[in-house]
Amino acid sequence: MIQGPDNSAPSNPAFLSTDFWGGSSKSWLCLVLLLAACLGFYSNIFNLIPRWEQREESQSPEAHHLQDQPDSLPLSQDKHTVVLHRLLLEKTEVSEGDCHMDTCKIPEVPRLVYPKAQVLQPTRTDVLVMTPWFAPIVWDGTFDSAILDAQFRNITIGMTIFAIKKYTVFLKLFLETAEKYFMVGHKVNYYVFTDRPADVPQVPLRQGRQVVVLEVRNYRRWQDVCMHRMEMISNFSRQRFLHEVDYLVCADVDMKFSDRVGVEILAPLFGTLHPGFYAADRGSFTYERRALSQAYIPRDEGDFYYAGAFFGGSVLEVHRLTAACHQAMMADWARGLEAVWHDESHLNRYLLYHKPSKVLSPEYLWDERMLRRPPYLRKLRYVAVPKNHAEIRNR
Ligand SMILES: *[C@@H]1O[C@H](CO)[C@@H](O)[C@H](O)[C@H]1NC(C)=O
Ligand SMILES: *[C@@H]1O[C@H](CO)[C@@H](O)[C@H](O)[C@H]1NC(C)=O
Repeated sequence: MIQGPDNSAPSNPAFLSTDFWGGSSKSWLCLVLLLAACLGFYSNIFNLIPRWEQREESQSPEAHHLQDQPDSLPLSQDKHTVVLHRLLLEKTEVSEGDCHMDTCKIPEVPRLVYPKAQVLQPTRTDVLVMTPWFAPIVWDGTFDSAILDAQFRNITIGMTIFAIKKYTVFLKLFLETAEKYFMVGHKVNYYVFTDRPADVPQVPLRQGRQVVVLEVRNYRRWQDVCMHRMEMISNFSRQRFLHEVDYLVCADVDMKFSDRVGVEILAPLFGTLHPGFYAADRGSFTYERRALSQAYIPRDEGDFYYAGAFFGGSVLEVHRLTAACHQAMMADWARGLEAVWHDESHLNRYLLYHKPSKVLSPEYLWDERMLRRPPYLRKLRYVAVPKNHAEIRNR
């Protein structure tokens, strides 16, 4: 669920005013945008390679042969790769397995014809398209889906959705709209965590896409359901997602897709700007402010307020994030503390000290009933559906 608009966005935030860039520094802005384009390109391809080799391990008959009888074969590059990846997958604290920064192989793309980017004509001048640590902020108009789709060929995306108790009523609309708009043309596994497997609806799916029902226990309070999501995602990442998908997208179920959401969101780690706070000052972010809590963020820190309703990344990074948040919540629990916005508070603390490699604009998370749509929000891609909180939450 999206937190209410207690601090709705000021109508003329400082970072959107033209003065911010200085009157005549257009060329400086262009340089920033050029860097944005470069960084976007690099961040897209970080995770193609490990998965590709991993697939070789799980699907190629030679690979299995190598695993079974490692000593009977001459030491080849392939054998080396297989053995290395087996070792990497068995460890959960893998760092060598990550494809990081410039150590990656750039994917080859086929011949494509598309309009050339204009260095002196920035695609957006009305919004910030780059964080201070050079992560792209994804807005409509800043990317070309055809190029991105070519770079992200052959990947599989896992989507985790929690439909505990009465939340199963949201599944039908969620899955139907996801089939229409989410990662169209790519392979998708929808991982539905539920305590009511019989209530998961049959929704027609495109080729290469499947619903995987994972039966889990429920918790009495909705806050506990939210908090245990981190633990469950972490557990299942280690046990199966790592072997089944390249990226994980963790999404709230009481939502629907209303426009295209594609591979432009994918990165080693991404977070989404909360629609209620994207233009607010850090002092008004609803971070956890008690220093005793593991989710504590001091008032002079904070980049953005990220939403708990939409985040993700490579399976390995999502595993790290969810395991860290779960541990932090357990430490708080041992002290009788519960962070002010539950899992979202811990997510914000994690993303402050592990900067996401892409940040999604509020196009990717909106609530039309709570917020008035500003003109620079050209698309609404993933939006809240109305619900009666008391009715749904604890049933
Ligand atoms: C992707 O799949 C296509 C066809 O399915 C194949 O020709 C191509 O080699 C694959 N590329 C990678 C990088 O696995
Ligand atoms: C997650 O895994 C741990 C360790 O294997 C286990 O103790 C715990 O019960 C699991 N949690 C859930 C929610 O499945």
